[in-house]
Amino acid sequence: MKLDVLTLAIALFAPLAFADDLDSGNGTRWASSPLVGGKSWSDAFAKASALVANMTLEEKVNLTTGIDGRCAGNLGGVPRLGIEPFCLEDGPAGVRPVHGVSQFPVGLATAATWDKDLIYKRSLHMGQEFYDQGVHIALAPVTGGPLGRAVRMGRNWEGWWSDPYATGVASYLSVKGLQDSGVAVTAKTYYIGYEQETFRNAFGLTTIPGQRSVSANFDDKTAHEIYLWSFAESVRAGIAHVMCSYNEVNQTQACHNAYTQNHLLKTELAFQGSIISDWGGQHDNVAAAFGSMDMSMPGQAFGGALGTMWGEALVDLVRNGTIPEERVTNMVIRILTPWAWLGQDEKKLPEVVFNAVGLRTFSEGYRDVRKEETAKVIRKIGSDGATLLKNTGVLPLQNPQRIAVLGNDATDNVLGTNGGDCSVDNLNGTMSMGGGSGYAYAPYVVTPLDALKKRAIETGAEISAITLNTGVQTAAQSLLPTADVTLVFLHAWASEFYDRPSIELDQYMNELVATAVNYSSNVVVVMHIPGVVDIERWIDNENVTAVIAAWYPGQEAGNGLVDVLYGDVNPSGKLPFTWAHSVDDYVPGTLVEDPVEAPQANFTEGVLLDHRWFDENDITPRYEFGFGLSYTTFNYSDIVIAESAAHADELSIQETAEPFEEFDGSNSLYDVLFTVSASVANTGKVAGSEVSQLYVSIPEDSEPPKVLRGFEKVKNLSPGESATATFELRRKDLSVWDVVNQQWRIPEGEFVIHVGASSRNLPLTATWSKSS
Ligand code: NOJ
Repeated sequence: MKLDVLTLAIALFAPLAFADDLDSGNGTRWASSPLVGGKSWSDAFAKASALVANMTLEEKVNLTTGIDGRCAGNLGGVPRLGIEPFCLEDGPAGVRPVHGVSQFPVGLATAATWDKDLIYKRSLHMGQEFYDQGVHIALAPVTGGPLGRAVRMGRNWEGWWSDPYATGVASYLSVKGLQDSGVAVTAKTYYIGYEQETFRNAFGLTTIPGQRSVSANFDDKTAHEIYLWSFAESVRAGIAHVMCSYNEVNQTQACHNAYTQNHLLKTELAFQGSIISDWGGQHDNVAAAFGSMDMSMPGQAFGGALGTMWGEALVDLVRNGTIPEERVTNMVIRILTPWAWLGQDEKKLPEVVFNAVGLRTFSEGYRDVRKEETAKVIRKIGSDGATLLKNTGVLPLQNPQRIAVLGNDATDNVLGTNGGDCSVDNLNGTMSMGGGSGYAYAPYVVTPLDALKKRAIETGAEISAITLNTGVQTAAQSLLPTADVTLVFLHAWASEFYDRPSIELDQYMNELVATAVNYSSNVVVVMHIPGVVDIERWIDNENVTAVIAAWYPGQEAGNGLVDVLYGDVNPSGKLPFTWAHSVDDYVPGTLVEDPVEAPQANFTEGVLLDHRWFDENDITPRYEFGFGLSYTTFNYSDIVIAESAAHADELSIQETAEPFEEFDGSNSLYDVLFTVSASVANTGKVAGSEVSQLYVSIPEDSEPPKVLRGFEKVKNLSPGESATATFELRRKDLSVWDVVNQQWRIPEGEFVIHVGASSRNLPLTATWSKSS
């Protein structure tokens, strides 16, 4: 990306124009967002409108404001009109905090599979559990990030790729999967620019009196090409609700932000559902109403612990003429339209029996809604997402006779499966998931040691485990030298509420590896981690013979892992972010941690997120975005561009109204302009699956060297077998956001299309020009 004078002028100008719009939350802007139901929502819109027309002001407000109840969020409903109370419940990796449900692999673990079928299936199965627990609105899936702008962000693991395109694919599929189960869902983590936990909350939750929430400051191009992209995909999938975030955006509280909510989301993306505040993300009754927020959570609940918002205050503000009643009517139509569209108006959901009080994670009342198939999907995501980073040939294990296991992460949490943090020597057991509202209770965790023991018994092997993290020298000295292989289990914890202090593994982890390599020349390292961790101290040690990133894989952790270790499943996971040598290689200063009154996070890197930053600055990572090893090898050949495969968009359940230069009255930004295909051959000795990736170099100076615009997993190729990977390129995939003309535009010139195995291993290229 070259910064010429024009680009510089635009870059300087764009944030100003953006900020100017932000000031106009003056009571009229909200009315500009078209509310028409749209496409498949038309009937539901008519139904919702008719219901709302019969409501008193108090009844309407009752549907906009959270109250106390059994769920994390509760709406009172309108019994007189047959609208039952609504239950809202977290979260992205399972129904939380509820028992009788599954603990799914987290978003990052699922992203590492790069498998669209598995992304959809995970959501479909999770949606069934939400529905069967009586949840009307799931506070899931993650759609918009965090995109991993800051590698230490405490919640990156809840999200997907550090890439807007790929996260957009996951947004579409996960919204579709959940809503296909009948539950209404909320696009979150979060609208918009929510890329750090530190200083996320003002409003009484901060340690610095008077401090404002951190402001995410980004320009118009960055908004469109990075942070808005995956919300557009969730709108296309028919998303019912969007959650506004805790941070400010360009110095206006996200939940009050008329520009981002009313203009970008409701007008440009033509989002017809409602905007729900993150819990405590609303700071003002009037600003939120005019800023286009539609549902206040937790509203009046929790005795005002997170502010006492809307409710009676909203009634008063309408009665005294501050807020037009029409705005409240608009809120309720937006809340009830997706409810009717999903059939929740006609089909009564099962009764809620759990009691998830507020933000605390205890439950009472029990109903098991798990289905047998779900555990298989969870196990499959675990094995297919496990990412093999190093292998000198020791994996897959050839039925070793004597196995040593080292590290507490291999086994149970000493305080119980969902026991939380142990203070003693890190005895948390297998880290199947991170913390905060994205944590889901596990009905069980199959630990690596459980699964390894089972396998050892089946194969007649001996297995012995040292499951302490400290004081293990003597035991290791006697066990490890006698073993054929030593499996070392490491972890790194991450949670909502704070960012990771560094990218170091947790306490004692590096020491465990040091002990292992001291006594064994065949050390296989397995890591349960939320993103990048520093492995530089030992990764090149010759006694470290293999390394697997197993992420946070959920309840089937051990089963999925052992499938890979023994080669029942050939690893095919690839990195959903760039794994750098050093934290200093990433964009500097992404986390704002200085305790000032108004913390400002300036997204100066613009569109250079993750791998784009490494490409632009020619930084060699330890492992590049999209990298992952297999037990076999693949060869790429025969790239073909087929313009004859062009076809109209078939996937938009709701249409966005994003402006684009080539609009002719009937075409769409999401029409497919051409396909690219390539042949992938398995050239090794065992069957395997390969994630093939497509990147585009867009002929515009302000664009990064290349952007991801397609991925396809070619599955179960036998040795010698070939298959074709086909990628569809849509108008938007070839466009840039034109900040001057405020529209998407395909630049003039030659596009270079690259296809291959990772962002730095792209053997095939072809070219395409707009005029062709
Ligand atoms: C705050 C979290 O940011 C959000 O993800 C969650 O849905 C709500 N709390 C409710 O638990």
